[in-house]
Amino acid sequence: MRLLVCGGAGFIGSAFVRARVREHADQVTVLDKLTYAGRRENLREVDPDIRFVHGAIEDPIAVADAAGDAEAIVNFAAETHVDRSITGPEEFIMTNMQGTHVLLEVARERGLRYLQVSTDEVYGSIEEGSFTERSPLAPSSPYSATKTGADLLVASYFHTYGLATSICRGSNNYGPRQYPEKLIPLMILNALAGDSLPVYGDGLQVRNWLFVEDFGRGIGVVLERGEPGQAYNCGGPDEMPNIDVVRRILSLCGADESLIEYVQDRPGHDRRYSLSSSKLNGLGWSARMRFEDGLASTVDWYRDNAWWWEPIRSGAYREYYERHYGRALKSS
Ligand code: NAD
Ligand code: DAU
Repeated sequence: MRLLVCGGAGFIGSAFVRARVREHADQVTVLDKLTYAGRRENLREVDPDIRFVHGAIEDPIAVADAAGDAEAIVNFAAETHVDRSITGPEEFIMTNMQGTHVLLEVARERGLRYLQVSTDEVYGSIEEGSFTERSPLAPSSPYSATKTGADLLVASYFHTYGLATSICRGSNNYGPRQYPEKLIPLMILNALAGDSLPVYGDGLQVRNWLFVEDFGRGIGVVLERGEPGQAYNCGGPDEMPNIDVVRRILSLCGADESLIEYVQDRPGHDRRYSLSSSKLNGLGWSARMRFEDGLASTVDWYRDNAWWWEPIRSGAYREYYERHYGRALKSS
């Protein structure tokens, strides 16, 4: 397939691109703005086989150029960190909503298949049971509200213009190359460096963990076999309270539980996410990686790949960290 992959230099997008090039021999163009979260290094292994365009999805000229002769657009590009959306929602509105609109217009002009990568956060928090694709949309943060706005716009392009759209909603991803503002890589790097591990509130919030390669495969299944106009949930096989995730990381890193520090809770913090994936199971997808194995291999990857994270942890990230957590990182 000839694909335009937007946001393909990020954590999940780059895993998807690597898999599509190697396992499906797709012809891929990546369009990426290279924000703090996007890195060319993430595409190093497939660099000779792809075309890379440095540009923003909210820029119609960059998108038209990147689209070339693509048959489909897969959109990963987004501002993705909930905490950053609380302190500065503007960029989330520009990228997640305006950017999606620009992509949809290009897809409509050229009659391209369109796949929107979305999140379980569009459904909000659930005390018991799991969300299906028919659950009401009830986002809580500026991040999830802009992702929901984008999902609604995507659905409207199917209903109004007959554009062949799909939406794939993932639960919390983890794995190699995730930017260390997110729970798992942040806690791994702090544990390895002997910095404290900042747990929000009581640490009993529950997330549904999905290995990044499983999500990439789920997105591929929706692209190839999904029914136009439909949304598909893609949830991980295991859920766990944050504090248990943190304790497992400490043990895998050989660090002491005295590093745990309970800090002020995130405003509007969603208590629990949980997705039912039975609709996507019906297309032949199921998660292959259990959390216990995936977490151990993720810790190993960060331990063995300091070249990837050292430039982040010694750069502007330190200022972000100090501003957000009110304390400096001990070591670079
Ligand atoms: P990420 O933050 O690691 O990467 C985002 C990528 O998008 C980066 O390469 C960045 O440079 C690029 N980007 C940002 N703004 C852009 C713009 N205006 N134009 C072009 N490129 C831009 O994100 P991720 O964790 O890989 O998430 C990818 C997608 O998956 C997002 O749409 C996110 O909402 C969704 N998602 C993430 C998770 C998760 O747990 N991380 C779970 C479900 C869904
Ligand atoms: O659910 C899918 C979503 O998962 C994606 O759509 C988002 O892009 C992605 O960022 C992620 O959102 P979360 O807010 O769930 O992920 P985060 O890693 O930021 O936090 C996971 C949990 O850990 C959450 O309950 C908050 C908590 N946490 C997080 C950080 C960064 C802490 O306790 N301490 C921290 O320092």
